Order: sequence, then C-alpha cells, then structure tokens
Amino acid sequence: MAIRRSVIRGVGHYLPERVVENSHFEDTLDTSDAWIRDRTGIERRHFAAEGQTTSDLAIRAARAALDNAGVTADQIDAVVVATTTPDLTFPAVATMVQAGLEMHHGFAYDVQAVCAGFIFALSNADGLIRTGQANRVLVIGAETYSRIMDWTDRGTCVLFGDGAGAVVLEASDQPGTNTDRGILSSDLNSDGRYRDILYVDGGVSTTGTAGCLRMQGNLVFRHAVEKLAKTAHAALDKAGLTPADVDWLVPHQANSRIISATAQKMQLPMDKVVLTVADHGNTSAASIPLALSVANREGRFKAGDLIVTEAIGGGLSWGSVVLRW
Ligand code: UT7
Repeated sequence: MAIRRSVIRGVGHYLPERVVENSHFEDTLDTSDAWIRDRTGIERRHFAAEGQTTSDLAIRAARAALDNAGVTADQIDAVVVATTTPDLTFPAVATMVQAGLEMHHGFAYDVQAVCAGFIFALSNADGLIRTGQANRVLVIGAETYSRIMDWTDRGTCVLFGDGAGAVVLEASDQPGTNTDRGILSSDLNSDGRYRDILYVDGGVSTTGTAGCLRMQGNLVFRHAVEKLAKTAHAALDKAGLTPADVDWLVPHQANSRIISATAQKMQLPMDKVVLTVADHGNTSAASIPLALSVANREGRFKAGDLIVTEAIGGGLSWGSVVLRW
C-alpha cells in the first residue's frame, strides 16, 4: 500500500566566520587544548559576530538548503525552527526566517527541545507532511550558544559553538516498506525529573534575563551513554530494522566519547559515523543538520543509504529519527 513519506530533498548549513581554537580559553581559564581534545574531541568552534542573531544564521542555512534542493521559498509550505537561543522571547525565529526568505504564505513556528530539538522538529514536520498539512517543510536547527555561556565556567564554556543547518523535507508517495526513501520512524522521549542537571539559570518568568547554561556534565554524560543507543534501537525497531542495516549514524555532536560509546553499543564501526564535533563543538539543535550537510557536501551519502540520527539534551529530552536518504 502506497504511503506518504517525508523525503529529504535538500540540505545546507551556515557557520559564522569567527573560528575560536581551544587555545583561546587557555589565557583566561584553568584549562588546556589537550584536556578539551581528550575529554570531548572538540578542537575549535564558530562564534557569531556581535549583532549576528540566531535568525541570521538560520536564514543563511535555509537559503543553502533551498539551493541544494533546487526549490524556492514560494514552494515551501511551513518553516519549523529548532532553537533554544531565539533572537527574542517572541516572535518565533521561524517567522523571522519566513520574513527573511520573503515568504508571505504558509506557517512558521519554533520547537524547543534543546539539543534534541532537531530530532523533535524533524519528527514534527514529518507529521505535518504525513497528515497532508504541508507538502514541503523547511526544518532548521539554529543556535547562538555563545550568548548563554558563563565565560568563567570551564566545565561548560569550552564545549559549545554557534551555527545552523537546514533540510527541505518533501512529500513523496512510497511503496510503504522499510526500503522506502524518507523518514521511516522516530522515537521521542523526555523526563522532566532531570531538569537540574542541564538548564539555563534565567528566563522570562523567573529572573527576566536570558541566563547562563549550567550543567553537571558527568551526570549528563552517563544519561547520554545509556539513553542514546536505546532510543536509536527503539526507532530502528519501529521500522523493522536493526543496527546491521545502518549505513550512517549521524549523532548529536556533544562529545566524541559519547558518540563512540553509542556506536560501540550499536556495534557500528566508526567509519559509519559522521563526526563534526572537532570543528563545530556542541551546537545544540544545529548539530545534526550541520553534520548532515557537511557529510552530504563531502559526497558521503548515496541514495538509499539508511541513516540513524540521535540526540539528548536539557529536559532531559532525547530521541532518534531513522531515515533513508
Ligand atoms: O548537548 C547536551 C548534552 N551535553 C552533553 O552531552 C555533555 C555531556 N558531558 C560531557 O561531555 C562531559 O561530562 C564533560 C566534557 C562536560 C566533562 O568531562 P568529564 O570527563 O565528565 O569530566 P568531569 O565533569 O567528571 O570532571 C573531571 C575533572 C574535574 O576536576 P576534578 O574535580 O577531578 O579536580 C573538572 O573540574 O575535569 C575538570 N574539568 C576541566 N579541566 C580542564 C572540567 N572542565 C574542564 C576543563 N579543563 N575545561
């Protein structure tokens, strides 16, 4: 029986010009390039310029994805942006992207699931397509985490970076098997009991300020190692697939040790894993679409490849999307 699937038609990204190497932090903090590399795999990250906002990055990534897809903004029905670092409390960054693309039709909104945001947004956009509410959706992950760092906290400020990635999802009638192209399954989870191990200490209804990111890194690390392989297995299972079917793991890029532990649990060799954490750091909701775009630009994916994405972040919220390229 033919079913309507959401196929990735195009992908693109944007990284701010300013690149900051690990050594930058050695001047002001008790840290070292060696510690950051060994414990996280991060070598450098990009930081937005003064005045450059999350929507600026998102618009550039969106344009790159539209070009890659060979479609124009008039052919897009909806814009969904995953972000935790919006330009303003409201309106949604997605409406700013819509305006930036001179798109005066359709609808646009943000999804906030922190580092798992792109997984939640992709799954949500897939729902819009499957239920016929949209034929083409621009799904974007965009962040300026440099705006919520405590530059005196070596446990967090060396980890994060700014950037944006975007995909154009398009409806496609497919045979309805797990050899179809497009999104085959998703697995989404949250557990609000863990809010205190990763959060921002400010907000509209509390301090009235944006606040700074706070994290008990080693606790988050343990949850990540336990939950990411589980959610990836759950999503594969829903599609009637196993890790042996996987061509590429495109994980959230927080820490190369978390990524390799997850790959190991899934019995996937590291040459099937897309790794961008060294050059981007942790860009939260932007990390997966950035990694998809970089790997696509390098010509690593071929039509029909099975890709598993997974992420975990504040909430805690975590999940996985399985798709065929
Ligand atoms: O994207 C959202 C999800 N976030 C994550 O997935 C991040 C998960 N967590 C991590 O990636 C790791 O836990 C970190 C990279 C944040 C920390 O690595 P760790 O191996 O878990 O270190 P730790 O927190 O257990 O700290 C070990 C030591 C501590 O010193 P003492 O108490 O042993 O003297 C820290 O103070 O490392 C120290 N430390 C640092 N030392 C040098 C923490 N940050 C730094 C630093 N430079 N930047």
